[in-house]
This record gives sequence, C-alpha cells and structure tokens, in this order.
Amino acid sequence: MINKNQIDYSVVVDSNDELLIEAAQLHIEHLSYRSFITLFGTKFILELYKDILSDKLGFFVFALSGNKVCGFVLGCMDSSRLFKLIIKKFPKYLKKILPQIISKPKLIPKLFETLFYVKKENTDIVSELVVIVTDSDYRTVGIGSGLVEILNKEFLKRGLHQYKVTVHDEMKQSNNFYVKNGMKLSTSFMMYNMKWNLYINQLD
Ligand SMILES: CC(C)(COP(=O)(O)OP(=O)(O)OC[C@H]1O[C@@H](n2cnc3c(N)ncnc32)[C@H](O)[C@@H]1OP(=O)(O)O)[C@@H](O)C(=O)NCCC(=O)NCCS
Repeated sequence: MINKNQIDYSVVVDSNDELLIEAAQLHIEHLSYRSFITLFGTKFILELYKDILSDKLGFFVFALSGNKVCGFVLGCMDSSRLFKLIIKKFPKYLKKILPQIISKPKLIPKLFETLFYVKKENTDIVSELVVIVTDSDYRTVGIGSGLVEILNKEFLKRGLHQYKVTVHDEMKQSNNFYVKNGMKLSTSFMMYNMKWNLYINQLD
C-alpha cells in the first residue's frame, strides 16, 4: 500500500529535463485515449513543457517517491498565451506536427477546434490547471489532491485567486476529483463531438 506521507512535493519553475521527460511520458501514457495533443507524441509535449517554463508561463508540481515521479500537475498563469508560444516557435513545432497531419488529414479540423476552443469556454479567466496525472499504482491515496493543494498555493503566491480546468464529461473519476478538490462547474460545451466541462476553482 502506498503511504501518501512518504511522498515529497517539488515545485519546478526552471527547465529540468529529467523530470519533464517523465511528465511528458505520464501525459502520453495516461491521457492519450482522450486527448488530441498527445497525437503529436512525447517530443512535442516535452518541447511545449520546456517552452512554458522558459517563457515563465507556468510551473509544475511533482509528486516524488524517492526518485520516482508518481504524479505531476502543470499550472499556467495565462493559457491564452500557449497558442502564441507555439506560433513564435512554429518551425520547430511544425516539424513534429506535420508527419501526423500528413498521415491523418482528418486531424486538421480538430486542430482548428483546439486552437479556438478558448472562445467556447465563455470565461475571462486565463489561469489554468492544464494537466494533472498520477501514475496508476499511486492513485486514490490522496496524491492528486496533494498536488492540487500545492498548485493552489503557487497560484496564490503569484496573485492569482482563481483558475479554470477543462475535462471530458465522461471522465467521471476526474470530474469527481475536481469537485472533491473544491472546483465548481461553470459551463459545458461541445468540442470534437464530445461534451466538455469547465470548472473554476475560486481560491478565497
Ligand atoms: C484524476 C487523478 C489525477 C486523481 O488522482 P488521485 O491521486 O487518484 O487523486 P486522489 O487520491 O487525491 O483522489 C481524490 C478524489 O478524486 C476522486 N477519485 C479519484 N479516483 C477515483 C476513482 N477511481 N473513482 C471515483 N472517484 C475517484 C474521489 O472523489 C477522490 O476522493 P475520495 O478518495 O475521498 O473518494 C488520477 O485519477 C489520474 O491521473 N487520472 C488520469 C489522468 C486524468 O484524467 N487527469 C485529469 C484530466 S487532465
């Protein structure tokens, strides 16, 4: 049985290749069945993570059991700038996206929907919990909630008193998880022919 008291939490604001590679792998492993961005592969995700840190757009909180990464959360201070970040370094990202687009042209409409989904959210809040994952062997013992607790403190430290998070309606345990951690359902919208829920966490 995993003891959550043996888990250390570490906030990462500067690029740390070893940890970021593990985060990108966890992202691909546990969110590929429902995510669009994961179709572009681990290297795409890793580059994006590195650029988010180097542009001071966000921060990671890692849950560590010794050297093993058992979970992480990525908080972004202004997720409306993620698109600009990709455009700024477009040739680098295009190289990673192009092979997938060529082999699966059906991805193009999805790509457009992804780029413009912010408009469907109908909110002015730009701070966001972008991704949270705990490794399968470490779930349901409170590590995800531990990550959110530190994430909340980090947002507050940066003067941000609320943030949003988007999740598929059908991912019931993730919806439960967000509600359990104080997030309130704000709206629902359709993207990629699926229902998404937008939660807001008001921190005070
Ligand atoms: C969502 C996720 C991060 C939760 O991590 P976790 O470490 O298991 O979270 P916790 O142990 O702190 O769980 C807290 C609450 O979440 C909900 N929850 C977690 N796992 C659940 C499950 N298997 N079934 C139902 N509810 C669940 C419960 O409300 C739980 O509270 P409780 O223990 O009092 O019942 C984890 O399941 C995960 O990585 N899932 C895959 C990736 C994902 O869906 N991420 C979210 C979208 S980006």
